[in-house]
Amino acid sequence: MKRLIALAIGMYLALIWVELTGQTVRPLPGDPLPGITSGEFEEFRLGLGDFTEVETVEDGLGPAFNGSSCAVCHSVPAIGGAGVVAEVRAARRNERGEFVELVPKSGSLFQTFSIPPHTCQPVIPPEANVIARRVPIPLFGAGLVEAIPDEVLLALDDADDRDGDGISGRAAIVTDIATGHRRVGRFGWKAQQATLLAFSADAYRNEMGITNDLFPDEVAFGITAEQMKLCDRIPDPEDKPDRRTRRRAIDNFESFMKFLAPAGRGPIDDAGRAGEAVFGAAGCASCHVPSLQTGPSPNPLFNRKVVPLFSDLLLHDIGTGDGISQEAASPQEFRTPPLWGLRLRRPLLHDGTAATVEDAIGLHGGEAASARGRFLALPADRRAALLAFLKSL
Ligand code: HEC
Ligand code: HEC
Repeated sequence: MKRLIALAIGMYLALIWVELTGQTVRPLPGDPLPGITSGEFEEFRLGLGDFTEVETVEDGLGPAFNGSSCAVCHSVPAIGGAGVVAEVRAARRNERGEFVELVPKSGSLFQTFSIPPHTCQPVIPPEANVIARRVPIPLFGAGLVEAIPDEVLLALDDADDRDGDGISGRAAIVTDIATGHRRVGRFGWKAQQATLLAFSADAYRNEMGITNDLFPDEVAFGITAEQMKLCDRIPDPEDKPDRRTRRRAIDNFESFMKFLAPAGRGPIDDAGRAGEAVFGAAGCASCHVPSLQTGPSPNPLFNRKVVPLFSDLLLHDIGTGDGISQEAASPQEFRTPPLWGLRLRRPLLHDGTAATVEDAIGLHGGEAASARGRFLALPADRRAALLAFLKSL
C-alpha cells in the first residue's frame, strides 16, 4: 500500500512538472500515458490498485486458479509487464492430426492451483497428448493497440497470399463477448480477444476464478457443478460493482491497461540505426510491421496516434504451433507478437523456450522461413546491426 501511495505521489509530481514546464517526460515502464487528465489518472490509479490486489477466497478466488492477482504474472520490469510464470493448456490430437477438446466445451486451460482441500483441482487426463505452455504478455501500450481500428488490420490481411511472398497473415475474427459484435482479435498469443474489457473479464475468471458479468460461470476442468458449489460458496458473478465508485474490478483493470504507456525505446547507437534497414530487408517487417495508426478519437491520447509496435497483429503459421485451437486461431497459428519493449522481456516465444533473440529467430519457419534464411545468410556486421536494433526496442 505504501508503495502504491509513493507511486501515485510520484506520478502526480511528474504530471504537475509537465503542466508547469510544458516538457514531455519520457514515460518509464509502468507509467501512465503522458498527457492524461487528472480524471483519467484517477481511473488509472484505481485500476493499478485492483490489478495488484491479492484476492482471497472471500473475494471469490478459485476454486481453480493460476494466480491470486493480475500482478503476480504481469510484474517484470514493472507492474503491467510480463513474467516467467507459464500457464498450461492440454488437448488431444486425433488420428487425423486435428485438435479435439478433452471434454467437449470444457476448453483447454488447466489451472495450477485450487482452493484447499483440493477437491476442485483440474487434472490433465491420460488421454491428453498435447500439452502447451504460454508465458505472459506485457501490457505496456495496450490502450493504443486497442485503439487501432479493425479496418487497419483487415487491410493488412493477406490470407490467400495474393502477393505471393509466402506470407499469409490472417485477421482473427472473434465475437466480442461484451457487445456480440464481430471484431478483429488482437490480444493474446492467439489474438483471442479484441478488447481490454473482454480480456480482463476472461483473465479474472480463467486465471483467478473470479466470475463476472461477462464470464458468470466458474470453470475447472472435469469438476461438476455440484462439486463446484462445495468448493466455492460465493454467489456468481463474484465481481460486484464497488459501492463508492460503482465500478467493477474488470472496469478498473481495463482503465489501468488502457492508460498504461508503452515501454518506450531504449538507447540506440549507429549500428542499431543501420539495423532497422536490415530488419526491413530481411523481411522481418512484413509481419513485425514497424507501426500502425489509431483511428480518429475524441480523446487526444488516442486520436490518430502512430503506434510503433512492430506487429501486424495478424495470425501466422511460422512452424511453432502449440496444437491448441483457440477462437479464430488454428493449432498452428500465432499472432505476430509486438516487438516494442523487447529488451525488457525474457524468455521469448509463446512458451518461453527461446532464451535469446537469435534463438527466437532460429525457430521461425513456415511463413517466416525465408526471413530466417535471410537472417542466417547475413554477413557478420549486418547481423550485428540487426541485433543491435532489436536490443534498442
Ligand atoms: C497466472 C498468470 C497470469 C495472471 C494471474 C494474469 N495473467 Fe494476463 N496473461 C498471462 C498469460 C500467460 C498471457 C498470455 C495468454 C495467452 O495468450 O494464451 C496473458 C495475457 C494477458 C493479456 C493480453 C495482452 C496482449 O497485449 O496481448 C492481457 C490484456 C492480460 N493478460 C490481462 C490480465 C489481467 C487484467 C489479469 C488480472 C485479472 C491477468 N492478466 C492475470 C498470465 C496471467
Ligand atoms: C511470417 C511472419 C513473421 C516474420 C516474417 C517474422 N516473424 Fe518474428 N514472429 C512471428 C510470430 C508469429 C512469432 C511468435 C511465434 C511463437 O511465439 O511461437 C514471432 C516471434 C518473434 C520474436 C519473439 C518475440 C516474443 O515476444 O517472444 C522475435 C524476437 C522475432 N519474432 C523477431 C523476428 C525477426 C528479427 C524477424 C526477421 C528475421 C522475424 N521475426 C520475422 C512472425 C514473424
